[in-house]
Amino acid sequence: MSKPPSGRKPPAKQTRLLHAGGAVGAEVKTVAPPLQRGSTVLVPDAKALYDTSKPTYGRLGLSMQTALAEGVGELEGSGPARLFSSGLAAITGVLLALLKSGDEVLVTDSVYGPSRRFCDNLLKRYGVTTRYFAPDASADAVMAMTGPSTRLILLESPGSLTFDIQDIPAITQGARAKGILTVIDNTWGVGLLLEPLALGVDVSVQALTKYVGGHSDVFMGSACGDDPKVMGRIDVFLRDMGIGVSPDDAYFLLRGLRTLEVRLARHGQSALQIAQWLQDQPEVRQVLCPALPGAPGHDLWKRDFKGLNGLFGVVLQPGSPEAVEAFIDTLPLFGLGFSWGGFESLAIHCDPQLAYRTQPPAYGGPLVRLHIGLEDPADLIADLRAALDAYGLACQP
Ligand SMILES: Cc1ncc(COP(=O)(O)O)c(C=O)c1O
Repeated sequence: MSKPPSGRKPPAKQTRLLHAGGAVGAEVKTVAPPLQRGSTVLVPDAKALYDTSKPTYGRLGLSMQTALAEGVGELEGSGPARLFSSGLAAITGVLLALLKSGDEVLVTDSVYGPSRRFCDNLLKRYGVTTRYFAPDASADAVMAMTGPSTRLILLESPGSLTFDIQDIPAITQGARAKGILTVIDNTWGVGLLLEPLALGVDVSVQALTKYVGGHSDVFMGSACGDDPKVMGRIDVFLRDMGIGVSPDDAYFLLRGLRTLEVRLARHGQSALQIAQWLQDQPEVRQVLCPALPGAPGHDLWKRDFKGLNGLFGVVLQPGSPEAVEAFIDTLPLFGLGFSWGGFESLAIHCDPQLAYRTQPPAYGGPLVRLHIGLEDPADLIADLRAALDAYGLACQP
């Protein structure tokens, strides 16, 4: 600690312990930004206590959160992102910030399950009505559903189980003409594969937990937009709700951002190779991967998206739930888990989740979702071939 003014007795050991290291300030410059943890922000003088142009408290974030917000803004093609503690918190927070009692929200039927649960339970309790539109509905059909209280349309394209693609520019154009806001869950598009703001979406939300984090070990969500009025409402929500994210988590996501492009390209290459291979397997009825010609949504995907990531669906030939379990249980290289976007391959069977939809899709066979990780694709293909053999065996009478 600094020397006491002359004539004063040196502070007690307890006081010295409390102030030791307090003078450490400007660090050497490193490639990664220094990690600053702090609730209390010390200001230089009395006037600065009420200067709101600079942070005076740590809750809304310090340098690390600011650096991440800038980076995610670059990803989405916007100003700084607003950060939330998870992807789900970003979706629910944006809806709460932009809706009020008496409003109606139209939501794609393919929306992420917990987002749907939020709409059906919490939003309903606060007087907001939700109606669902078919994930492949035309813009005209979506617009035909709007009414005088429709305030917002929530898109998710592709849906993360059935990979249906929405006509984003046409829907946003129709919505703008009616003064209706559009929000998209852009976790699949990541900002590198899809820039929704350029297609007219008002707010693009992402679970950074997935590809930006990339290592299945951290949660975070983001919301980006260009309209200062809309983003201002989200800022007020964040401030008044006391929502902030930890600098340690922000550090991991900023680190993930640096390698996102190369990881995503590899996920996409391997996924395409495996999706094409799966198409030719006799036990496979259909591959729900929008990059495949003839797959649902392929033409819109080709028009609006810049590439593919590692997540797609596989419809198997008809078989019992036990046969699907045999398939899933014969995949040693694939973890069985609900997430995606990490370096590892994952698999789930999806039919229990489809049952919640207003109009469950009828694929004529069970649906499995694969996340293709960064393993050698030949190893994953060998795994999948063994699992399809197990499925075929389990389907025999
Ligand atoms: C499409 C989609 N959106 C949002 C989320 C939520 O992200 P988080 O787990 O960070 O809340 C998920 C998580 O699986 C997801 O798949």
